Amino acid sequence: AHVVTANCYDCKYTDCCVVCPVECFYQDEMMLYIDPQDCIDCEACVPECPVEAIYAEGNVPAQWQSYIQLNAEKAAALKAAGNAHITEKQEPKEGPECKKK
Ligand code: SF4
Ligand code: F3S
Repeated sequence: AHVVTANCYDCKYTDCCVVCPVECFYQDEMMLYIDPQDCIDCEACVPECPVEAIYAEGNVPAQWQSYIQLNAEKAAALKAAGNAHITEKQEPKEGPECKKK
């Protein structure tokens, strides 16, 4: 599966979820998560993110390994709680902790 990592935190540009063919992006207040049960590894989302937050599971940088499990847990919980996947671009959050380069 693909994984949303730290750079998404407080940014939420949402360019990624627009291009996903299987609608596997979920969100909370701070970032987005990919549901690994549904991701088909098409890679379409990777170049869309302006802060390079998305990696294939096998390429997640060492310091962000915990995001693999975090995506799985958060996506499953958000889905179970009845939250809809996101498929449309939202106004970016771009909060103070967003580290846009
Ligand atoms: Fe969706 Fe493809 Fe990105 Fe997986 S790799 S989250 S299927 S756009
Ligand atoms: Fe986050 Fe990048 Fe998508 S900032 S919302 S992973 S486009």
